[in-house]
Amino acid sequence: MVGAGNIARRFVTGLEHVDGAELTHVWSRRAEATQAFAEQHGLSACGSFEALLDADIDAVYIATAHPSHAEYSIAAMRKGKAVLCEKPAAISLPELESMLAVAREQRVLFMEAMKPPFYPLYRRLREHLAEDPIGTPNFVRAGCGVSNYGPGLPEFDLERVGGSLLDIGIYESFLAIDWLGAPRDVQAFGRLGGGVDVFASVNSVHEHGVAQWYCGLDLHGRGDALICAPHGNVTIDGPWWNPSTATVSYKDGRTVRLEAPFVGGGLNYETAHFCELLAQGQIESPVISHDMSRHMIDVVDRSRAALGL
Ligand SMILES: NC(=O)c1ccc[n+]([C@@H]2O[C@H](COP(=O)([O-])OP(=O)(O)OC[C@H]3O[C@@H](n4cnc5c(N)ncnc54)[C@H](OP(=O)(O)O)[C@@H]3O)[C@@H](O)[C@H]2O)c1
Repeated sequence: MVGAGNIARRFVTGLEHVDGAELTHVWSRRAEATQAFAEQHGLSACGSFEALLDADIDAVYIATAHPSHAEYSIAAMRKGKAVLCEKPAAISLPELESMLAVAREQRVLFMEAMKPPFYPLYRRLREHLAEDPIGTPNFVRAGCGVSNYGPGLPEFDLERVGGSLLDIGIYESFLAIDWLGAPRDVQAFGRLGGGVDVFASVNSVHEHGVAQWYCGLDLHGRGDALICAPHGNVTIDGPWWNPSTATVSYKDGRTVRLEAPFVGGGLNYETAHFCELLAQGQIESPVISHDMSRHMIDVVDRSRAALGL
């Protein structure tokens, strides 16, 4: 593991629920933080990033702030290590392409850690809609506003490439693409604060529908998601990105309530998928494919550009 912050801690909790996977080494840029994290979780603390890559490991989980994802992912893949990289995998489409080029050259597994599709509820929903369909979705509405950020945190720091679109909007971008297909056009409005986007409202046009979504760092949003199709609609209750309940409403008046609680904090499901791919010698996830990562950051790039970023 590279990084020893919040998500790194949550990853450790999740890993207890992943059979056959073991976290052995950690490195983060501050030696004392690395040491403390390693002691707390029973890991080897590496003295340098190079020492981490020289360790007897199969894969590296990148848990640092987004502007450093590319550098660490590329270096790890050049050493032949598979990479599970936190979202957003890159801070722009060109940067992502430079990472994917190395994954291709080295023929190593690279996956962006976009967790929602691996949750039990999300999988249950897909299965349910395959059995009792609502038709091809043509509209998605979602949003996430979390007002527990504040000035001084990386999310509010332009130099650390903060902002709501990269931090949160990447999830909504995923949802829209997952149900409506590749993006075609993007319109975005928003508010800047301290140079970063504190709020963005996005309309994205996709292969077979339109999405309306928002993300914000200074408002308390609802966090549910609506997916509409010709014969019915789905509401995934908030927070839809850590889903556990959903309701399918059919045009004929029926409603079906789906419930699927998750364990381990939720990162464990994407990690289990990543480990299965690694064990099978795969180099790309069929769920969070390289094209999915491209489309997600493309929508965010275009939204950021529309806001003048
Ligand atoms: N999947 C999810 O559910 C989820 C949830 C939250 C966050 N995330 C993602 O996870 C990543 C980390 O978020 P977090 O909440 O864990 O942040 P955090 O608590 O601030 O931790 C960030 C970690 O990255 C390190 N770091 C920051 N900038 C770095 C750089 N330039 N080079 C090397 N290390 C650097 C920090 O080291 P120092 O202590 O030395 O600064 C710290 O170890 C972000 O990309 C975020 O989008 C994902």
